[in-house]
Amino acid sequence: MFHIILFGPPGSGKGTQSEKLIAEYGLIHLSTGNLLRSEIANKTALGLEAKSVMDKGQLVPDEVVIGMISSQLDAHADAKGFLFDGFPRTVAQAEALDKLLKLKNSGIGVFLALDVSEEELVKRLLGRGLTSGRSDDTDEAVIRARITEYNAKTTAVADYYKQFDKVVNVPGEGSIDDIYASLKTQIDARMH
Ligand code: AP5
Repeated sequence: MFHIILFGPPGSGKGTQSEKLIAEYGLIHLSTGNLLRSEIANKTALGLEAKSVMDKGQLVPDEVVIGMISSQLDAHADAKGFLFDGFPRTVAQAEALDKLLKLKNSGIGVFLALDVSEEELVKRLLGRGLTSGRSDDTDEAVIRARITEYNAKTTAVADYYKQFDKVVNVPGEGSIDDIYASLKTQIDARMH
């Protein structure tokens, strides 16, 4: 099994690149943001609780997202590997993932971190908000709150994986195809 974590701030291109990567490598795409939006669309109790947190640009509680990921791993027990997008976002989530996957020394394949400047992130997300219907994209203050939350709580996740020598930083500005080619180079170097 080969697992990839695609990491980066809101708007860095995780979702865009994930679509291309799962098609190439046949991995199961697990996006906690997508799973949460599906709960909201289905008006579940979990979705109702998560929506108010997400609309403020804050993180949903660890136990909620860890529970969702645990169910998905069980549902795809025969997968050849997973591409995690937007998860883990805290060190507690990273430690939980190691336990769920029964990994020693965070034995994921690679942790790819997309680097994008804050002004580019805000520009992209305000642009997407015009058409996506995502309620956390329409207000610049909420977008900046998401980035602040990322800097405060999520960047520590990269330090967690650095101790296991899993982190590769990839420039996330430029053409989508060029960024994809850089990601692919890094994955191929570790997969084969
Ligand atoms: P989530 O859904 O994970 O959103 P996010 O991290 O804020 O990331 P985005 O989906 O906004 O951006 P992305 O990096 O996928 O970029 P994309 O490819 O779409 O999380 C949403 C919320 O859910 C969180 O705030 C939190 O509340 C909650 N949540 C989720 N996971 C959680 C967890 N693990 N723990 C706790 N809470 C959790 O691209 C963005 C835009 O840019 C698009 O319009 C795209 O077309 C464009 N674009 C992409 N690449 C390029 C490029 N190279 N050049 C120009 N434009 C580009």
